[in-house]
Amino acid sequence: MRYMPTSKLVPGMVLGQDVYDGSGRRLLAKHLILSAEYISNLEFLGFSGIYIDDEFTRSIEIQEILTPQMRGQALNLIHELFTFDVDEGDLPVEEENLRKTIENVVDDILNSGDIMCNMMDIRDYDDYLYYHSVNVGAFSVMLGARYGLPREQLYDLMTAAMLHDIGKKFIDSEVVNGRWPLEGEAREQWKSHPRLGSEFLKSKYNFYPAVYEGVLMHHEWYNGEGYPTGGAGGEIPLFARIIKLADCYDSMASKRPQRKRLSPLDAVEYLMAMAGAEFDPELVDIFIRKIAVYPVGCEVELSNGQHAVVAKNFSDFALRPLVKVIETGEMLNLRDDPLGRSITIGRTLI
Ligand SMILES: [Fe+2]
Repeated sequence: MRYMPTSKLVPGMVLGQDVYDGSGRRLLAKHLILSAEYISNLEFLGFSGIYIDDEFTRSIEIQEILTPQMRGQALNLIHELFTFDVDEGDLPVEEENLRKTIENVVDDILNSGDIMCNMMDIRDYDDYLYYHSVNVGAFSVMLGARYGLPREQLYDLMTAAMLHDIGKKFIDSEVVNGRWPLEGEAREQWKSHPRLGSEFLKSKYNFYPAVYEGVLMHHEWYNGEGYPTGGAGGEIPLFARIIKLADCYDSMASKRPQRKRLSPLDAVEYLMAMAGAEFDPELVDIFIRKIAVYPVGCEVELSNGQHAVVAKNFSDFALRPLVKVIETGEMLNLRDDPLGRSITIGRTLI
C-alpha cells in the first residue's frame, strides 16, 4: 500500500483501505477501483489523500496505531456528542456506552504494539474537528503508554483527549472556523472553550477529576504563557500537558482551509523548537521517538535525485528508513546498507 495525495489520484487506482467520513460512516470500501467521479468527490469533500494498493507497493504493509474500523467507531461517538442539541435534553451517548467505546479504542491502540506512529492525513475539511479529536486521543494514548501510565489511566486520558475541544460546541461557528489571528471578542470567546467543555462534561458525566482538568487546561503553555489559568510546568496536570502536545502536532500535520499543512518532519521540528516554552520537554522527547517522520507508504525524494516509497521505519532511526526506489524497484536500507549511507531524504511528497 502507499499513500497518494488526492491531487495525484487517477482513475483505475485501487483503494487500499476503507475510507470513513467524520460521522464514522464508511464512504468507500477497500479494493474499490477509483473512477473519475469518486476522485472528484474525494477532492470536493477535501480529503488530502488516501491509501491505494498497487503492484509496486504490494509488499509494503501499513501499520497504523488505530485500525480503520475502530477509528470509525470513535468518529461516530465524537460526532454524536458534538452534534446533539443540548437544549433537547438527554445525552446521545450514555456514560456506560461512552466508556465501553473508549476502552475498546484504547485496547486497539495498545494491541498495535510498540510501532512507530504512522498517521497520515486522511480526512475531509468539513469534519475536521471529529477526525482531529480522534487523532488527539490516539496520539495521547500512545504518548501516555510510553510515559508508563497504566491501562486504567489511559482510558481516562483517552476520554479527556477525545473530548478536549467539546467546548467548541458552545461557541459561534464563525469563531470556530474564523480566520487567525482572532481578535477582540472573538478571541475571548475562543479562549472560553476549554472551560465550557470541562463544565459541560462535569454536568453530564461522572468522570475522574483528572479528565475535567485535562480538558480545562489543554491550552496551557509549559512556560506559563497559556490559558485559562496561566499555570506553568508541573502546575499543569499531566493529561493537559500530553493533550497540548498531541493537539498541536495533529493540527500542524493536517490540511485545513487557510492553513498550510506541514510534513511530519517539519511538525516534529516545531515541537523540538518549542520544547520548554510551549511544551513539556520530557514529553516532546518521548513523542518524537515514536513519530514516523517519513511515514510508511509515503513517497519521498532522495538526495541522489531518485524517488522512493518508504517501506519500513526503525525505532530510534527516524531519519533512516527502508525505502523502495521507484526508478529501479530496489529496496534500499538507509540505516544499514553501505550504498545508502551517503543518501539522505530531501522531502516528503504530501
Ligand atoms: Fe482546544
